[in-house]
Amino acid sequence: MKVTVLPTFDMVLLGGTGDLVTRKLLPALYRRHVAGQISADSRIIGVARTDFSRSDYLSLSQKTCQAFLKEEFDLAHWEAFAVLLDYIKVDAEIASDYARLAASFTHRAEVVRVFFFSTASDLFAGICENLNNAGLVTNLSRVVLEKPLGHDMLSADFINHQVGRVFAERQIYRIDHYLGKEAVQNLMALRFGNALFEPLWRRGLIKHVQITVAEELGVERRGHFYDKTGALRDMVQNHLLQLLCIMAMEPPASSDPDAVRDEKLKVLRALKPLRGQDVLTKTVRGQYKAGAAGGVAVPGYLNETNIAPDSTTETFVALKVEIDTWRWAGVPFYLRTGKRLQDRVTELVVTFDEVPHPIFENSPSHTANELLIRLQPDESITLTILAKNPGEGMRLKPVSLGLDLGDSFRTPSLDAYERLLMDTVKGNLTLFMRRDEVDAAWRWIDPIRAGWEQFDEKPKIYVAGSWGPAASSALISRDGFSWHDEL
Ligand code: BG6
Repeated sequence: MKVTVLPTFDMVLLGGTGDLVTRKLLPALYRRHVAGQISADSRIIGVARTDFSRSDYLSLSQKTCQAFLKEEFDLAHWEAFAVLLDYIKVDAEIASDYARLAASFTHRAEVVRVFFFSTASDLFAGICENLNNAGLVTNLSRVVLEKPLGHDMLSADFINHQVGRVFAERQIYRIDHYLGKEAVQNLMALRFGNALFEPLWRRGLIKHVQITVAEELGVERRGHFYDKTGALRDMVQNHLLQLLCIMAMEPPASSDPDAVRDEKLKVLRALKPLRGQDVLTKTVRGQYKAGAAGGVAVPGYLNETNIAPDSTTETFVALKVEIDTWRWAGVPFYLRTGKRLQDRVTELVVTFDEVPHPIFENSPSHTANELLIRLQPDESITLTILAKNPGEGMRLKPVSLGLDLGDSFRTPSLDAYERLLMDTVKGNLTLFMRRDEVDAAWRWIDPIRAGWEQFDEKPKIYVAGSWGPAASSALISRDGFSWHDEL
């Protein structure tokens, strides 16, 4: 794959010793360096309050990159990459610490600066102010904000406001790494690069849509963060709603960032609110108990590290979502996500209407065409059609037309963070969320939480390694459908 070397940049990774930086961002940058995209005079600076020397930081980073990249890791390449790496001790909340960071930027005013905030979002406002007061924010600076941005609409609004006092909207990159996934971009290609699907993509032809983001992993080492957050804020407010937007949006007039983001915003604003009693019939909260993952016994959520023993945080959510537009009125979208489910799978299933009048006897009843778009772990598109069973008589049977994208394009695809980090350097905002999108997503999410509190809706327990609580199957079967894996 041909790559262009990017102009020199300085990237400051705040929260530099944390999981995201060491396990995702640094490996992604290493890969881009190996691919030849990062110029030799660029710099990557880890920043955290740990009392590390540069060499401590290099050994930590080397260890985690090696573990993450496995056989892809090459010592000679690493040594070349490590030349760009530095570490500066800064406590994000201590203003005077930023002078140390500022000192390393003398004579670099003309260079693109990316500040990646990989810290808790309640620190974002203070960090911006401190960066600004230390004279670190230039016209060529950009800030990258990790999700979830805040914990509800009010807190997100406050953070956005404070960040906006220092950075212009064109300098703010709100990250949702799902938007950087090759497969998610392929979904755009499928919908807007082919004339075939557009006429079918609407009420009257589509019966319902399912979006599943299932994880086999539990909360891992993130108990502290997760217990305060839960699946609704961690996954639904961002990743699932973004997938829903791409599935449901109108064709944008161009691929220009704002053209795309305007259309996604319209979907978010058209979501039918789930208020009050709706939470009892259209949402399911779950929490896993001990079970098995990949054949190995695993503890329940309440026995994970850093989880309150009486926690009522949800690790699973299923929702019935309706979109109040001409295109989608009456077409339910079922969303589901959870930790410690049976498999790691992200898939979208579009079920089309049945034929209005069956003319063949012995056809399977209630079998409709189905488009299965699988985004993870493998990328594939499968269309189920009905074909004649060979032999006498007209007996129809479902068969699959399949496309394995990995087989079709034998080039390795970029990891989401590789693409998104390079986009921040290039100044391409298309795959990042605009402030109004984040606001609209919280505006829809907040009443769900409020409803759970109002009705004291405790999570339903499911066994680790299953597909979630029975109530999730009931949610969809009440409408006469079933989850794709339950067919
Ligand atoms: C993150 C969530 O945003 O996405 C995690 O905070 C989750 O809880 C992860 O595990 C899933 O991402 P992926 O790319 O592994 O599907």
